[in-house]
Amino acid sequence: MDETFDVLIIGSGAAGLALALQLPADLRIAVLSKGELTAGSSMWAQGGIAAVLEDTDSVEDHVEDTLVAGAGLTDASVARFVAEQAADCIHWLLHERVPFSTEHRDGKDQLHLTREGGHSHRRIVHAADATGRAIETTLEEQARARANITLLEHHNAVDLITARRLGHGEDRCLGAFVLDNQTGHVHTYAAARTVLATGGASRVYLYTSNPDGATGDGIAMAWRAGCRVANMEFNQFHPTCLYHPHAKSFLISEAVRGEGGILRLPDGERFMPRFDERAELAPRDIVARAIDHEMKRLGADCVYLDISHKPEAFIREHFPNIHARCLEFGIDMTREPIPVVPAAHYTCGGVVVDKAGHTDVPGLYAVGETSFTGLHGANRLASNSLLECLVYARAAAADIAATLRDNPPAIPALPAWDERHVTDSDEQVVVSHNWHELRQFMWDYVGIVRTNKRLERARRRADMLHREIHEYYRNFRITADLIELRNLALVAELIIRSAQARTESRGLHFSLDYPAAGNGSEAHPTILGPSAPPPYRNLLK
Ligand code: FAD
Ligand code: SIN
Repeated sequence: MDETFDVLIIGSGAAGLALALQLPADLRIAVLSKGELTAGSSMWAQGGIAAVLEDTDSVEDHVEDTLVAGAGLTDASVARFVAEQAADCIHWLLHERVPFSTEHRDGKDQLHLTREGGHSHRRIVHAADATGRAIETTLEEQARARANITLLEHHNAVDLITARRLGHGEDRCLGAFVLDNQTGHVHTYAAARTVLATGGASRVYLYTSNPDGATGDGIAMAWRAGCRVANMEFNQFHPTCLYHPHAKSFLISEAVRGEGGILRLPDGERFMPRFDERAELAPRDIVARAIDHEMKRLGADCVYLDISHKPEAFIREHFPNIHARCLEFGIDMTREPIPVVPAAHYTCGGVVVDKAGHTDVPGLYAVGETSFTGLHGANRLASNSLLECLVYARAAAADIAATLRDNPPAIPALPAWDERHVTDSDEQVVVSHNWHELRQFMWDYVGIVRTNKRLERARRRADMLHREIHEYYRNFRITADLIELRNLALVAELIIRSAQARTESRGLHFSLDYPAAGNGSEAHPTILGPSAPPPYRNLLK
């Protein structure tokens, strides 16, 4: 056993860092990140955080907007739980010194609130168009200053250690096996409490707004540990990512539409009013599907988002990063429309948790995008994700602090990872080939519009890849790429199985074979598992 912590947090995005910072300062905490501390999606968040801060707005309206976007699958009590705590979370971030945008309103300086699709009020707190960067870098600075927090960057959790998988009787999470990406050594980290804060899985699709690490590791690790996962068929496609061969799906924030941006066809026609009376401000599933439909109908490579009718100074003030990034690609959004396409953006499903972040395995928590709380239902409302990260980080921190104080568990000796019976791979190409193949068929067959036939095709390919990757994993020394591919393949399988289980169209899941929403009997989450945990690959006794 290499080291023992009170709390092992796997992930250093908004969820992981907010949790670490809200735990008591006398606990020994480790925070893992598989890249640099700020490598997750949180750093890239643009639009902001939804919170009711004005008298003209109300928690009821925020709950209602969340329920409408969620298309019948949002848990109303969870939506209320989250909306009620939003203002406190914003105040906590302000206390940590996050530099949100302000304006002079009603005679005083106040937070500037922007608007996004699906919201009935202006309620999005933001830091210009780089809200995630403002939050993540502030929380990073605070975490680096804390003596009780050990930050382990470039450390990749391979698998959770559970009593059941070790054959130790009553189940409990005991820590994790963790690969140091720089030395190649696999450590055994023991912990009284382990938290998954590993973010989403949108890299399972070829085109995505997410950074490279969004490979669903937490969902895969939790599944192998015997946790249930839910609603994996609901992957959100953001309607507007920059379309440019070198742009790697750079996001064009929904706030651009919130501030008046208009979606146009290549010939300049505005098309959203034909699809929904809320036009550009309809929930994301509707806008993404409308764009997909129009692109397929016209054989177009992209559509256009036009905010050039707004004053140049307004655009530069509200969208400085998007403006600069577009200029790098020769597009001046103050004068011309931006070419955009939908791309995979957010994993609405995940590891099933309760309101304190508990998973099915005692001692294991999940927070942030990796979790399934019931908030997002069949489609997430814009800017509710960072909010969910913060609310559940706070709830889990309070639960961990209370239960560790009242009942600190004894941690047994844990085995070491054994690499004696494996060799270095002689064919790394297998990993890169399978990685590409997986993301391509997920995009082609399990994307915005699905059919039974496409899902069946995808299932056959996923099964085949799964077997091949498993074989590879058993025989060769693990690498960061192999760990991610193994997890991605499992997540793909869970998405396909969930999509096949849903015989209706709802929210983000649209099937040409079942184009209508069900009659009500289908209005429940798709819950898979628990699975029987597989044995570990090889361990020293
Ligand atoms: P992340 O921030 O993704 O962090 C995951 C962490 O886990 C990383 O530190 C990563 O290194 C680590 N990790 C993963 N696997 C492992 C492993 N095996 N071992 C060790 N570490 C691991 N939401 C909003 O509410 N408002 C917005 O404006 C908004 N804009 C967005 C814009 C973009 C471009 C994107 C991509 C997303 C946006 N979202 C937005 C969604 C939101 O940013 C994410 O859902 C949220 O930041 C997820 O936070 P997280 O802490 O759960 O995960
Ligand atoms: C955006 O700025 O469009 C992203 C907002 C979100 O994903 O919630």
